[in-house]
Amino acid sequence: MRELWVRIVAGITGALVLLLALAFAGLQSPPTPVAAPAMPAAALPPALVGAGHAVYEAQGCAMCHAIAGEGNPRYPLDGVGGRRDAAELRDWILATGAAEEALPARAARMKQDYRALAGSELDALVAYMKSLTDRPPGEGER
Ligand code: HEC
Repeated sequence: MRELWVRIVAGITGALVLLLALAFAGLQSPPTPVAAPAMPAAALPPALVGAGHAVYEAQGCAMCHAIAGEGNPRYPLDGVGGRRDAAELRDWILATGAAEEALPARAARMKQDYRALAGSELDALVAYMKSLTDRPPGEGER
């Protein structure tokens, strides 16, 4: 009779220790990591970036440029948002400023046509370019 009580008490104690251990492990486990955005969301409204992507497609920029392996691989734009500020991006899109001299003549001529874009379309395009901060595919993972 006495042995039975001892076993019951030992069993309950064991179960409690196990529960406490599990609860503690739950508290100790790190929180699920959240994917970090490439840019602060406030700086680049997703709607503007999306609109810029649409302009990029409509204007056929992919005829000469590739993003994430899609388009003409000759002039990839991956990571361009980390390399150039908004004013430079504007120059490279419109073939103005320093970009006018640096671009091959044919590309500069074609890019001059983009000067006819609406200001809002250009702003969206620059925002989309600014959002391209990822490394080109195949350049190695961290
Ligand atoms: C006729 C071909 C052509 C078209 C079309 C074209 N580009 Fe370009 N673009 C170039 C060339 C060539 C360069 C210079 C690339 C270099 O020197 O690495 C360039 C450079 C750029 C750069 C700077 C790249 C860097 O690495 O600094 C950006 C940004 C850019 N273009 C955006 C655009 C956008 C946006 C469009 C569409 C609205 C567009 N381009 C259409 C040929 C083109």
